[in-house]
Amino acid sequence: MTTLRPFSRRAHGFGQQPISELMRMALAQTELISLAAGFVDQATLPVEETQQALAAVFADATRGRAALQYGTNAGYLPLREAVLARLIAADGEYAGTRPHVDQVILTAGSNQMLHLVGEALLDPGDIVLCAAPTYFVFIGLLAGLSARAVGVAIDGDGMIPEALQETLERLKRSGERERVKAIYTTSYFENPSTVTLSRERRRQVVEIAKRHSADGHLYVIDDSAYRELRYSGPDLPSMRAFDETGETVIVAETFSKSFSPGIRVGWGVLPPELVGPLSGLKTSIDFGSPHLNQQLMSAVFEKGLFEPHLQVLRESYQAKMNAMLAALDDFMADVPGVRWQRPTGGLYVWLELPEGLDAGPGGRLIEHALAEGVLYVPGEYCYPGEGERARKDRIRLSFGVQSAENIRRGIEALARAVRQLL
Ligand SMILES: Cc1ncc(COP(=O)(O)O)c(C=O)c1O
Repeated sequence: MTTLRPFSRRAHGFGQQPISELMRMALAQTELISLAAGFVDQATLPVEETQQALAAVFADATRGRAALQYGTNAGYLPLREAVLARLIAADGEYAGTRPHVDQVILTAGSNQMLHLVGEALLDPGDIVLCAAPTYFVFIGLLAGLSARAVGVAIDGDGMIPEALQETLERLKRSGERERVKAIYTTSYFENPSTVTLSRERRRQVVEIAKRHSADGHLYVIDDSAYRELRYSGPDLPSMRAFDETGETVIVAETFSKSFSPGIRVGWGVLPPELVGPLSGLKTSIDFGSPHLNQQLMSAVFEKGLFEPHLQVLRESYQAKMNAMLAALDDFMADVPGVRWQRPTGGLYVWLELPEGLDAGPGGRLIEHALAEGVLYVPGEYCYPGEGERARKDRIRLSFGVQSAENIRRGIEALARAVRQLL
């Protein structure tokens, strides 16, 4: 007889995430070319750089011992200073005051930062406005906190300010405005849509959040996970640069894409009043993310290993992106109703399929694609449960993991699967 296990409501809320289903499919068919996983390229992971940085940490026994000891809750100060200096240098001009190092907290990947921010801001039933589509792990995170994700329409320049404004007004009319705590956007090469929030829209979104804060404080979460993976065009300032009072924008960043996800160091730059609550939550979890990993990343900067590696990464990913775009041009360009944007960074291509074609997890395309030996992320996973309508006829393709040859074979297989359904 099975007895009911006394799991918390929260554990039920987190339940099965779409990512597990995709991983199951990929593992069940080993020959499969997976264009699904958002993993980074195995071939360019920085083995030698990591060896050198670790050697630097352990070259001095005192430093080595310190690195093997507990660190601080906020993380290793020299690394916090390094990431902040990098942010400030990249952002250039700030509308108001620059962030201070006390506002920087290191976490185990930026997912931990997003999670802590969720925990610090959201009670069950609270709302986060998200670009539609958005990072599906974040949608799962909100569901786990029993919070609501409401989708806001995007176009080629990212979240549409008028749509954001309308959504806030609609929620005000329905008496739900005070439940809205934050606006979430991956402002560089959005996962999955690949669009980058334009400079003007960065300013507008921050301005809308500030204006609507009269009805209850609204934060903007600027998830900058892909900022470093730009392959062409000039960098844009983070949304923090447009936050005159520094009270609105939370920046979440990570070394997962720009160096190594296995090292698992991410960070947040927080408005001052959020530092206390978030630090308290973090103390109750781990009183500091792995110290050795932070020392290691700090040594990567000290030894000047970061920038050259980033250059290698950018070149390698750009070549893979071009391989995917060329394969799409060759195999998909003449399929009616199929369209894609040409990204300038990130790890993905977002494919629009013929209107109404069901590419969802239970749909026909995934069956045909698996039979042809290729896997993608159903776009449907990436839409918040409310607001902008979810599209089943969109898919996310990643060029991060596979070789250029496999990317080409994968796109050819996908094109066969799509044509079978037309
Ligand atoms: C948009 C976005 N944010 C955050 C993350 C989390 O990265 P990590 O927790 O490894 O720092 C990812 C990873 O794929 C991502 O795509």
